[in-house]
Amino acid sequence: MPRKILVTSALPYANGPLHFGHIIEAVQTDIWVRLQKMRGNDCLYCCAEDAHGTPIMIRAQQEGIAPETLIARTAEEHRRDYAGFLIGFDQFHSTHSAQSRRFTVELYERLRDAGYIVRRAVRQAYDEQAGMFLPDRYLRGTCPRCKAPDQYGDSCEVCGSTYTPADLIDPLSTVSNSTPVWRDSDHLFFRLGAFEPMLRAYVAGGSLQGAVGAKLAEWFDAGLQDWDISRDAPYFGIEVPDAPGKYFYVWFDAPIGYIGSFEAWRAAHGASFDDYWKSEHATELYHFIGKDISYFHTLFWPAVLHGAGLRRPTAVYAHGFLTINGAKMSKSRGTFITAQRYLERLPPEPLRYYFAAKLGSGIEDIDFSLDDFVARANSDLVGKLVNIASRCAPFIERGGGRLAAALPDPALYQQFASQRERIAQLFETREYSSAIREIMELADRANRYVDQHKPWALAKDPGRAGDVRAIATEGLNLFRVLMSYLAPVLPQMSQAAAAFLGTDFRAWDAVATPLLDAPIAPYKPLATRLDPKAVASLIEPAAAAAAVAAAPDATVGIDDFSKLDLRIARVANAELVEGSDKLLRLTLDLGTEQRTVLSGIRAAYRPEQLTGRLVVMIANLAPRKMRFGVSQGMVLSASGAADGDGIFLLSADAGVRPGMKVS
Ligand code: 2FM
Ligand code: ZN
Repeated sequence: MPRKILVTSALPYANGPLHFGHIIEAVQTDIWVRLQKMRGNDCLYCCAEDAHGTPIMIRAQQEGIAPETLIARTAEEHRRDYAGFLIGFDQFHSTHSAQSRRFTVELYERLRDAGYIVRRAVRQAYDEQAGMFLPDRYLRGTCPRCKAPDQYGDSCEVCGSTYTPADLIDPLSTVSNSTPVWRDSDHLFFRLGAFEPMLRAYVAGGSLQGAVGAKLAEWFDAGLQDWDISRDAPYFGIEVPDAPGKYFYVWFDAPIGYIGSFEAWRAAHGASFDDYWKSEHATELYHFIGKDISYFHTLFWPAVLHGAGLRRPTAVYAHGFLTINGAKMSKSRGTFITAQRYLERLPPEPLRYYFAAKLGSGIEDIDFSLDDFVARANSDLVGKLVNIASRCAPFIERGGGRLAAALPDPALYQQFASQRERIAQLFETREYSSAIREIMELADRANRYVDQHKPWALAKDPGRAGDVRAIATEGLNLFRVLMSYLAPVLPQMSQAAAAFLGTDFRAWDAVATPLLDAPIAPYKPLATRLDPKAVASLIEPAAAAAAVAAAPDATVGIDDFSKLDLRIARVANAELVEGSDKLLRLTLDLGTEQRTVLSGIRAAYRPEQLTGRLVVMIANLAPRKMRFGVSQGMVLSASGAADGDGIFLLSADAGVRPGMKVS
């Protein structure tokens, strides 16, 4: 019995371009869906524009256009870019649609009638000039803790503290640049806490990845808070039916967009709504997302569905963030690579392949390294995979364009073909990098087969024509198996390969039998090498140069350096700082005096590891008043470019004593 499966990837916001982060997720999902389809399962891939919310409203205002115009324009760009990356949606819809509106209202009414919605007044910053309540990100002001100016309404980028917008000093609205006032307004809250037992059981049921489950345990421990699902007008969204002037918060209607998109598909193709959205057994439901939106998908969403009498997701599959050359994507460094920028320069499939080669089932971050991309795509796709076909095809063509009637090494063919269940399982469990590795090992074996049998040498002897044809037939059949395994990753290339071999890659199990005594078409190159220059140009040079220019002077004079009083100190005492998960309080002995230094090394060291240790400190750093006290200096440590690299204190060689000057 084929499985009935509905798959989604996260809905992109309709006010910005698709970038590599969107594309890796869409590619991950698309590969999975294509695999399911090849395996004969009844699998649907639905997605949509996430069209509501304050940022979209404000962006449209800034451009002087209606939000509807903005989201329609963005949707066109998104469709074009997804198509450019060969993403095979069955339905791509919008949350600004009749279907989404209907289900949003319906789910809300069911939750309300079941007693899961409560009303409560909320005090919020209000911009009198713009005539609107201000979300935290539209407030800037001075940090109440460290007094850094120009910080967001909810958190400080300088000292890392979080606070409520009411604590912000001298707040300003970024919408009108005016000083906001404080106003009360009634909001609607979803009682998430009522679902805790259900959610705990859901998590225990194995629907989530280990690391996500661990995060959930933390959230349970912190206590599940009611969730504010309403916003006041003006807002671009769906109006709450029994509260005029109030709109559903965009994150309430966004996942309901999955249902809306499915419904648009269903209306055109016919299917049972209840099978997909009521029963947890008739169909499977999977959401592919980035780990940053786990909270919405693993707590709110299952609770909303359950509270409204609908099924919960079979599983939520989160992936890690994409980094570029080891660092976070950044506009100022020019590494915020949009889908369009890529597609203007390069073909989609090498990138699909590279992402597949890097993706696993976990939530670790995934790095796109430009050099590695070129090396990998060229060596695997051109050097290994296509090489098999391009070496074998001429011998068949010269021999009349027909494959031999039998394989010279049927056992080798069976070794390849019998891997299909294993490869399918690796794709099914999202272990794409392992699947790719095993497929490429097979490609190496296929190349070795051709190398060993040297058809080019035999071809010099007209008496061996039959052998030559047989060897080339074996090689092309091995190639066919590999292209079949890679068809979910390389849909275009596999189509071209199918046309060349006179076959198709619709059914995963078709490779159980080899292609024999059949005509093949003249060979045309199936892939070309990536030009490293084109790949290098993915990074915007202007932005990269600006980032360098904006950086402080690259060199310092000896005078600058000698201003620093670097000293050796011994850690006389180290202790935790209550209320801080980053800091340790160190008492440092400089030989002549003691200093207290608050150091952000708690993640890397336990206090007892430090006592007695020699460290390097900046002794003449002006004392800094921090939330947890005054820090009289700083200890030097090393850390890598990536977050996970850790922090390492610099230590001193034998013979060094506290108080010695470091130069
Ligand atoms: O984080 C985002 O980009 C959201 N637009 C994702 C929404 S996914 C779903 F819930 F709609
Ligand atoms: Zn601060």
